[in-house]
Amino acid sequence: SFQAYESYDYMFKVVMIGDSGVGKTNLLSRFSKNEFRLEYRATIGVEFGNRSINVDGKIIMAQIWDTAGNQRYPAIPSPYYRGAAGALIVYDITRPETFKNVEKWLKELRDVTDNDIVVMLVGNKTDQNNLRSIRTKDAKAFAHRKNINLFMETSALNMSNVMNAFTKVVTQIK
Ligand code: GTP
Repeated sequence: SFQAYESYDYMFKVVMIGDSGVGKTNLLSRFSKNEFRLEYRATIGVEFGNRSINVDGKIIMAQIWDTAGNQRYPAIPSPYYRGAAGALIVYDITRPETFKNVEKWLKELRDVTDNDIVVMLVGNKTDQNNLRSIRTKDAKAFAHRKNINLFMETSALNMSNVMNAFTKVVTQIK
């Protein structure tokens, strides 16, 4: 993406994790290119997206890393996490098992990253609210219990909260 050649004051690495199919790739493509793809294509290897965000007059380049969620535990080799200042753990609000697995993703993240990493729990696909199986208040309570700094519900399909989610994570990075 050409945005990578803009000048910036800081670059922060932010990783996305979560089960297969929860919408990580589409959240990233919505954020970095304003694109959404309805048909599912599994991520192979690692994909990247950049977008600059203005925070208090400083240009922050958010470098977002995205990988496949379909591996077994331990899912992702630790270089993926190296140097990450922020993380989004994504689940699908319509699929309870993806929420249940957040605990596993969180453990993996905590095992290999610094304590001061900014973590956001993201419940995606709010456009499918009629199929919702995870209540907002339960996810919020879970995040609080697990010391996850931030929580947000998003829809990559209808763009709800996508910018907000990434901006909030990047803004919280010290
Ligand atoms: P892996 O690469 O397997 O880890 O999956 P992923 O988490 O990257 O999911 P991906 O972005 O590929 O999306 C999976 C499917 O869900 C695709 O068919 C998307 O179109 C769909 N999807 C993603 N975000 C949303 C959303 O906000 N709402 C709806 N309704 N569908 C979504």
